[in-house]
Amino acid sequence: MHKRALITGVTGQDGLHLSHILLEKGYEVFGMVAGQRPSTAQSFSQLRPDVKLIQGDLADFSSVLQVIDQSQPNEIYNLGAISFVGLSFTQPELTANITGLGFLRVLEAVRKLHVEKSVRIYQASSSEMFGRVRETPQTELTSFHPRSPYGVAKTFAHYTGVQFREAYEMFISNGILFNHEGEYRGYEFVTRKITSNIAKIKLGKQERFSLGNIEVSRDWGYAGDYVEAMWLMLQQESPDDFVIATGKSHTVREFTTAALAAAGLEPNIERYLDYDVSMIRPSEVDSLIGDSSKAKKVLGWEPKVSFEELVALMVENDLRVESAR
Ligand code: NAP
Ligand code: GDD
Repeated sequence: MHKRALITGVTGQDGLHLSHILLEKGYEVFGMVAGQRPSTAQSFSQLRPDVKLIQGDLADFSSVLQVIDQSQPNEIYNLGAISFVGLSFTQPELTANITGLGFLRVLEAVRKLHVEKSVRIYQASSSEMFGRVRETPQTELTSFHPRSPYGVAKTFAHYTGVQFREAYEMFISNGILFNHEGEYRGYEFVTRKITSNIAKIKLGKQERFSLGNIEVSRDWGYAGDYVEAMWLMLQQESPDDFVIATGKSHTVREFTTAALAAAGLEPNIERYLDYDVSMIRPSEVDSLIGDSSKAKKVLGWEPKVSFEELVALMVENDLRVESAR
């Protein structure tokens, strides 16, 4: 019999990648979509018509309960969140409600439906929880020091997962994923902002663009690789927490330079880039780099796409997207 998976946040970047690999593995895939955004659901359905969409909102307990009851999942992937760190500073309460309490609602719904012993649950934890990092590289044992309302909300959800796992013996695994990008990345995130603007420059649609702090560094991987790790976590004998990262960190400046080169433009950022002070965050995460050796040992997981390949695939994708516009 087919396994059934429920994905919250199915219309996001990771939801698209994850539903693709789960469908390929023969799963029946259900996705929770917030009803007030029918256009998102429509464009998602064009890309993944085989995913069964059910209306529900992580801010609304009764709808979460109903979606789980209707889909009867063997596995739940909780990807739904306010995921843009910048927005979390201006809407901290909304972020806490959806990114933090949303996961508590999922867990409580599973318990109320008395399926806590049979459902396996993945929580999308984040390297943003490390914030002002206590050690480098960061592992599953590194203490958290979040620097944004988003990071605080993710830390709440993470520990809620650990607490439910220990109190009720539920199968809950937290994936502490470092930044991952790709062709479905939202335009508000820095990598997509860079590659989409550079594609427009290459095609002669504009001359310059602007960014905030370009000296920060991130451990960037490819989203297609990272969703495979999510699935692997739920196939283990017991639940656990795993860091998923490449082990290499690059600055936003380096990403921009590499993207210019990939587009065949002069890799001299001053020629194309302005400074946008509005992008500066009240508190910043300066540098992240992850150690995913536990995931390699236990899950057999390793990233396949290198930094250079990631930049090139995003630039090529945006050249295609912008040419068609
Ligand atoms: P994303 O593209 O921003 O997708 C987030 C999804 O959450 C969207 O489908 C969004 O739906 C949905 N959502 C927002 N509010 C909701 C609500 N009230 N109820 C139900 N769904 C709601 O994020 P992503 O990059 O795919 O990331 C997936 C998850 O991993 C997120 O939890 C993120 O915080 C976490 N994470 C991401 C990264 C990364 O680098 N990408 C790293 C670590 C952790 P709409 O589109 O309709 O708003
Ligand atoms: N978005 C954005 N726009 N970021 C900029 C800009 C800009 O114009 N200029 C500089 N940056 C810097 C940000 O200040 C941040 O330090 C870095 O670029 C990366 O920003 P984002 O791409 O917005 O990602 P993030 O690292 O804050 O958060 C992402 O990764 C987390 C995992 O570490 C998101 O995907 C989170 O959901 C995820 O948990």
